[in-house]
Amino acid sequence: MSSAKPLQSKKSPPLTGIAIIPGDKSISHRALMFGAMTEGETIIGGLLEGEDVYATAEAMRSCGADITREGAGNWRVNGIGHNFRTPKNPIDMGNSGTSTRLIMGLLTGHPVTATMTGDASLSKRPMGRVITPLEQIGAKIEATEGGKLPLTITGTDNPKAITYELPIASAQVKSAILLAGLNANGITTVIEDHPTRDHTENMLRYFGIDLKIEKDGTKTAISVKGGQTLQPGLIQVPRDPSSAAFPVVAAIINEGSDITCENIGLSPTRDGLYQTLIEMGADITITNKRTEAGEIIANLHIKGTGPLTGIEVPASRVPSMIDEFPILAIAASCAQGTTHMTGLAELRVKESDRLAVMAEGLKACGVNLEMGEDSLTIHGNGKPPQGGTTVKTHLDHRIAMSFLILGTVTDQPVSIDDGAPIQTSFPNFIALMTELGAKIGPASNE
Ligand code: S3P
Repeated sequence: MSSAKPLQSKKSPPLTGIAIIPGDKSISHRALMFGAMTEGETIIGGLLEGEDVYATAEAMRSCGADITREGAGNWRVNGIGHNFRTPKNPIDMGNSGTSTRLIMGLLTGHPVTATMTGDASLSKRPMGRVITPLEQIGAKIEATEGGKLPLTITGTDNPKAITYELPIASAQVKSAILLAGLNANGITTVIEDHPTRDHTENMLRYFGIDLKIEKDGTKTAISVKGGQTLQPGLIQVPRDPSSAAFPVVAAIINEGSDITCENIGLSPTRDGLYQTLIEMGADITITNKRTEAGEIIANLHIKGTGPLTGIEVPASRVPSMIDEFPILAIAASCAQGTTHMTGLAELRVKESDRLAVMAEGLKACGVNLEMGEDSLTIHGNGKPPQGGTTVKTHLDHRIAMSFLILGTVTDQPVSIDDGAPIQTSFPNFIALMTELGAKIGPASNE
């Protein structure tokens, strides 16, 4: 990653225009990985061209896949089927937890050895959640103390089919096990208590894999029979609802704004923020909902019509908006009344401890809040806090973008110490926000 990039945002006029949001990060990773697992050519349109996705592309290349960029967002992957090879050098996963955990699952089912490294943020994140099931399947994993990166993983040509009930709601863990199970001898089943994003299931089916999905009350069991080969295809990546969240909230908290975001992924496993904002009173119109390549997409029209109202966010909704709590906390800070968010333990092990980092930054901006072990309660008074501080982003792209959005409505500017991590998921964030009318740029000392 490039060196630190201090940025600042200032009170901005109402935002207007069409926001062209980049491709979905989760789906982009999967398109490259699953394309590499086919025996043929996969053509991808709308791929997110961000650092996290580049880390996945490089990792797949180092295992033998041929991946080329043909034009903006248009990529071609020539897969290697079951013939993954041992990378010559350690693979650098950068800031990307999704790349690391999914690729660990993928490599478990192949007789190869790879060393994985990451940046300072990724090296603090727990890998034990994938190490435990992948070792049961047959991988040998030597990790740094505490189940951290760097680690070396050796897969097997004889992976064992397991049934695994997820101890935490995690699409990454679910996906890692299913990818390992694709080469196992028998049926691998993952049971999840709360539905997490289902892009792996959708895309595996799209690539011709026979998956069984059974629901029983709140539980879902996903089963895959080993020995199947992915068939190459054509993938159009939807635009990322987690990235759209930033201009959407920026428009909602800035009265008089009027923006449109088209072709946004709006799977029920990803739409929790949008449901929550609508419950808080946001003016969001969803049109042209449709399914393309197994994913639901829609157009969003957002108007800033005055302060939102604080609500209780149901804990059961957390998995469908797991990455959106930093930006929801910004919306809640400008709302009238109290917003109570619970069931947030997972936020502590994201790119940063998002609960602590948000609470500290918001307090410094003048927000009245309480943080618990896994909860955040924000008391808004119907107008933005005063701002006027510099927030430490701890190599976390979503913290960086959230505070820059807040600064577009506070009386005093909001600065961040480092906006470089925005490149991991939303490389055109500043250009796009500037185009809509936001005042975001390099930090100045005036
Ligand atoms: C992701 C799953 C989520 C999410 C991450 C992307 C994925 O992580 O936070 O940004 O692509 O599967 P967990 O599965 O660990 O909750």
